[in-house]
Amino acid sequence: MNRKSFLKSGFLGSAGLLLSGTSSVDANYNLSQNKPVFRFAVGGDLHYGAGEYHKHTENLVNWLNKEKEGRGLDLFFLNGDVVHDITDKYGELQDEYLSELSMPYFATKGNHDYLEPGQTWESVWGYPADQIVEAGAFAFIFADTSRGDNLDATEYTSADPEWMQYALRKVSDKKAVFIVLHIAQRREGGEGWPESWPRFGVGHHQESRAAEAESVLAMIESVPNVKAVFHGHNHNIVSSYMTYPAPQPNAKPYFFCSRVGHNWGNTIGYRIVEIYENGSARTYQYDPESEVALNTELIEMKAAGQPCRATFKNESFDVRLI
Ligand SMILES: [Fe+2]
Repeated sequence: MNRKSFLKSGFLGSAGLLLSGTSSVDANYNLSQNKPVFRFAVGGDLHYGAGEYHKHTENLVNWLNKEKEGRGLDLFFLNGDVVHDITDKYGELQDEYLSELSMPYFATKGNHDYLEPGQTWESVWGYPADQIVEAGAFAFIFADTSRGDNLDATEYTSADPEWMQYALRKVSDKKAVFIVLHIAQRREGGEGWPESWPRFGVGHHQESRAAEAESVLAMIESVPNVKAVFHGHNHNIVSSYMTYPAPQPNAKPYFFCSRVGHNWGNTIGYRIVEIYENGSARTYQYDPESEVALNTELIEMKAAGQPCRATFKNESFDVRLI
């Protein structure tokens, strides 16, 4: 393996998330005077092997390398459905394309990421499908949301609750934790803000799976240093949801990040997160074909109800697996 490695406007007081902007394009996204101290991207649903996948993958690598050359890109998460119902093209994808990325990247497992018997995420990528990535004062948790041995793209599951509990405790001293999961852990119609949750969450195919996913969601909601969660899977959604009608202490934003490949869906792109020296953070969905930013939002880095004391001046952010 090579690791060259619609919102509606509003303010959620102490809930810790300022939603600025609207579902329209934010023309000012690149006018910030703040230089990020750390900048990462999340984009999934490449579906390598389907449609014009060579073109999509080449575009993706070029777009991300351009981000790196511009405002910088310290880390990229390829958030699930990396391939499309195949098991034999992971090596080709890594060697011919992803090895050209100029920043560290990690792949999370999606429902279309098939594995042969005896083949594991770790044997393909060099790390398990449940993993913690540390970058200085930050940590990233990603987890398998299609657990099971079936070659079946309708297998939507929670993250492993035991592992998630372990991971959240393991990073409890971090100033900010970000969680990357391919499939949303709340089923369609579940209570949410600014509206009920969209289709294709856990429970979509098997209602019996929903309760376990809700238990994972409750864990995530209960931890103050988790600042945001990122999902793929829903190709056409570029907006964010919260679990409860605002405001609620500790409520987290769940960002859906569209897709970086494949021919299904009307949207394309990835989500950028910029963290600044003073501890503030901003995110926007970016469409690199049209070169427009959508749904610019601020992520509050403070613990709910506490003054923001987190600053990142002169910190280093070496990326490593833990
Ligand atoms: Fe998916």
